[in-house]
Amino acid sequence: MSENLFIPEAATKAEKYEAVIPQIEALISGEPDLYANLANISAALKEAFGFFWVGFYLVKETQLVLGPFQGPIACTRISIGKGVCGTAWQEAKTQVVPDVDAFPGHIACSSASKSEIVVPVFKDKQVVMILDVDSDQLDDFDQTDQKYLEKLMDSLGNTL
Ligand code: SME
Repeated sequence: MSENLFIPEAATKAEKYEAVIPQIEALISGEPDLYANLANISAALKEAFGFFWVGFYLVKETQLVLGPFQGPIACTRISIGKGVCGTAWQEAKTQVVPDVDAFPGHIACSSASKSEIVVPVFKDKQVVMILDVDSDQLDDFDQTDQKYLEKLMDSLGNTL
């Protein structure tokens, strides 16, 4: 297992995902510790794409609780149906939010965050955690991010 991430320069976003996702999958496939894997996924996505905030919230009883992340400190607990993260959990569906200020109930952990994608992770068809990625640019996420981040979260779900 390599501990260096190869990130192609002058590549499209899809090309970067194509290069980086197999490396992340290789990194997590041989490691049984969940928190180690969540920490490395957060770091790898932040390093490869320069996102403002990348991290996980884990389902614990009636709330999402902050897990490993990269970026500024964030709110610790989110209830089901609240904000973008709580909505992704409740609907068991990826949320792509081009302008967080236009999302009813968005939880502003940082005023620098402008757009956001939240992808659920499933175990036995239940949402057990969510990946949250925030950008300081408006409209920074599209179907390319959704496709590749859902693929990565499927791989993560298969390790649970
Ligand atoms: N904005 C999220 C809260 C989490 S932070 O962005 C890290 C939300 O509305 O659920």
